[in-house]
Amino acid sequence: MSHRDFREFLAAAEQQGMLRRVRQTVDRTWEPGCMVKWTFQALSNEDRFGLLFEDVEGSEFRLATGAIGASKYAYALALGVEPEEVNDVWVNALCNPLEPVAVDDAPCQEVVKTGDDIRLSGLPIPVWTPGKDNGPYITTTTVTRDADTGNQNMGVYRTRVRDDNHVVVNLNPRRHGHNQISTWLDRGKPAPIAWVIGAEPAVHYASVGAVQAGVQEISVAGGLMGAPVQLVKCVTSDIMVPANAEIIIEGELLPGETDMEGPFGENFGYMSDSSFKPVARITAITHRKDAIYYGIASQMPPSESTVIQSTANAALTLKILRHDLGETTVSDLYYDYTFGGQAAHGIVCMKPLHPGHAKKVGRTVAEISSLKRITVVDEDVDIRDPVHMDWAMNARFNPVQDTILIDGIFVRMNVDPSVPLTGSIKMGGKIVFDATQTLEEGEFSLPAKETMMKSLETWKEAGLPDFEIPKRARLRLDRS
Ligand SMILES: Cc1cc2nc3c(=O)[nH]c(=O)nc-3n(C[C@H](O)[C@H](O)[C@H](O)COP(=O)(O)O)c2cc1C
Repeated sequence: MSHRDFREFLAAAEQQGMLRRVRQTVDRTWEPGCMVKWTFQALSNEDRFGLLFEDVEGSEFRLATGAIGASKYAYALALGVEPEEVNDVWVNALCNPLEPVAVDDAPCQEVVKTGDDIRLSGLPIPVWTPGKDNGPYITTTTVTRDADTGNQNMGVYRTRVRDDNHVVVNLNPRRHGHNQISTWLDRGKPAPIAWVIGAEPAVHYASVGAVQAGVQEISVAGGLMGAPVQLVKCVTSDIMVPANAEIIIEGELLPGETDMEGPFGENFGYMSDSSFKPVARITAITHRKDAIYYGIASQMPPSESTVIQSTANAALTLKILRHDLGETTVSDLYYDYTFGGQAAHGIVCMKPLHPGHAKKVGRTVAEISSLKRITVVDEDVDIRDPVHMDWAMNARFNPVQDTILIDGIFVRMNVDPSVPLTGSIKMGGKIVFDATQTLEEGEFSLPAKETMMKSLETWKEAGLPDFEIPKRARLRLDRS
C-alpha cells in the first residue's frame, strides 16, 4: 500500500535500510548539503539511503533529505509497489486521477504561527551548495491558485530565504505556476502561494511531472496512492494544502516586487546565474507538533531531484505513447537520471510491428519529450541494465542505417551546456538509435533454459554462493 503519510514512509524506509539517522549536532549551512551529496556521488542505487538529521543547530525541528528520491527502490517503497511496477502505477494515475477531498482538522495545522511568531530562521532550511548558493533554499512542492478558476497547480520552484518573513521564488515564465500567479499580479493583487513540506511522497512525485495544464497534479497524486489526498484550507488564504503534511509555509507574492534569485546549484550539474524573481511575504507557518522539515536534494546529478523528475517524465511519455498515440506494443520506457530527463537519454522497449516502426516511435519520442538521445530496443532487453544495453547496441545496431539525426530543436537556455548561444537562443539537435533487430538472428549461445536451471542444483551442492538471477539472464534464457 502506498504511504499516505510522510513519517510513515520514513519509518518504512529506515526499516529497509533506506534511511539513516545522524544524531550529532549539525550546522545547516554546510553539513547536510555536503552529506547528502556523498550519498548520491558515492553510493549506488542499491546502497543509497536518505538522511534524518536529529539535531540541527538553532532549530527545534528535525531535518530529512534524500529519502523520497534516494533510489528506484525508495520510490517504489513509497508507492507500495515493486520497482518494475512504478511506470504502470504512474500511467494508471494519469489515466485515472482521483479528486482530492477537503477536511477540517489537519495534522499540518496542529501549531499555527502568524504575525511576529513567523521566523523562517527557526526552520532547519539547508544551504545546499555551501559557499556557492545565494543562502538557504526551500526545495519542496509549491502550490499556487488561479484567481479566475480556483484551479491549483503544484510544482517545485526553488525558493531563496531572504529574511525571517520574505522569500524569492524562482517561478519561471514558462511554468504553469507562473501562469497562475499572473492572474493575480497582472491585476495588481497579491498572489497566494504555499510551500508543502513532508506530504505524502506521491504529492511530491506528482508535483515534478510535466503534467499538462488543466490536469491537477493533486488528483494525479491521488491516482498514484489509490486514494484521494486530504486537503485543508490554509489559515491565511484560500489555497488548499495536503492536511497530513509536516509543515506548511503560507505566503503571498507581492505585485511588482522582485529580488535577486540565484546562484543556486542546478540539477544540470552547474551553478545557475542570478536574476530578479518575485518576492513573497510569509503570512503563516503551520506544522505538526513534532514536525520534520524536508528538503528535496538537487544539484550535481544523479540527485534526488533527477531521480524523481526522470521517473515522472518517463511515465508521462509512456502514457502519451500507449494511450494517446495508440502505440500499444511499447512496454516500457526509462529515462536516465541526469537532468531530470531533460537533454538526457531515454530508452524505449517495444515490439516493432513492421519495418520502420521502431524508428517511427523513436522519432515520436524525440518530438514529444525534452530528451536528447533516444534508443529503441526489443522486448527481450532489460532497458535498466547497462550491460544488456551495450550488448543490444553492439549486436543489433548498425550505425549508418539505424541512426536518425534531428536538428532545429529549441533548447531551453541552461539545459544543454554543450549547445552554444546564438544571439539569445540555443538551437540544438537530437539523435535516435534504432537498436531493434532488423535482420533474422541465430540462436543464443546459451544452453537451453532447462539445462541451465538444472545446473543450479549442482551449484548449490557445491556450496557456491547464492545469487538472484538478473533480469538480463532470465530474458536470455527464455529464448535459449
Ligand atoms: C528540487 C527541485 C527544484 C526545482 N526547481 C525549479 C525551479 O526553481 N524552477 C522551475 O521552473 N522548475 C524547477 N523544478 C522543476 C519543476 O518542479 C517541474 O518541472 C514541474 O513539473 C513544474 O511544474 P509546472 O509545469 O506545473 O509549473 C525543480 C524540481 C525539483 C525536484
